[in-house]
Amino acid sequence: MGEMTKEFLHEAFAGESMAHMKYLIYAEVAEKKGFENLARMFEAIAYAEFVHAKNHAKNLGLVKEVADNIDKCIEGENFEVDEMYPVYKATAEMQNEKKAKTGFHYALEAEKIHEKMYKKAKEHAEKEEDMDIGEIYICPVCGYTHYKGELPDNCPVCGVKSERFKKF
Ligand code: FE2
Ligand code: FE2
Ligand code: FE2
Repeated sequence: MGEMTKEFLHEAFAGESMAHMKYLIYAEVAEKKGFENLARMFEAIAYAEFVHAKNHAKNLGLVKEVADNIDKCIEGENFEVDEMYPVYKATAEMQNEKKAKTGFHYALEAEKIHEKMYKKAKEHAEKEEDMDIGEIYICPVCGYTHYKGELPDNCPVCGVKSERFKKF
């Protein structure tokens, strides 16, 4: 592939991915105000951006078989846990950016769990079988991810009541 096309595919994938996220966040804002149609419009366009991002990702060769995809996930989560978020968190701390530090801390704690989940998932994917995972709960405030054992009353990371968790 031509170097220029490859670089543009990377940029387009990043841009569409960010637009997708931004629109979903904006949909939530509109929904909280009770603007259901606006929220739906944001969600619909977000889905179109997801489709664009997916096409670019495929053209970049980023989409493979399940087990290979999980390898990429382990790699990404591990980088966030071991290098990225510890450095980001320490920097925010030094610069006294409290909200940024909290956000980095929330992400760091959840990514540790994600890495574990993907490592478990890999064992199943290698055997060409589905995973025996039950209900998964996500904290809407910090992203804490719960997938085994009793659900706690409060989020162990941010303290919010677990009745607000989103179930998957
Ligand atoms: Fe797009
Ligand atoms: Fe993650
Ligand atoms: Fe939380």
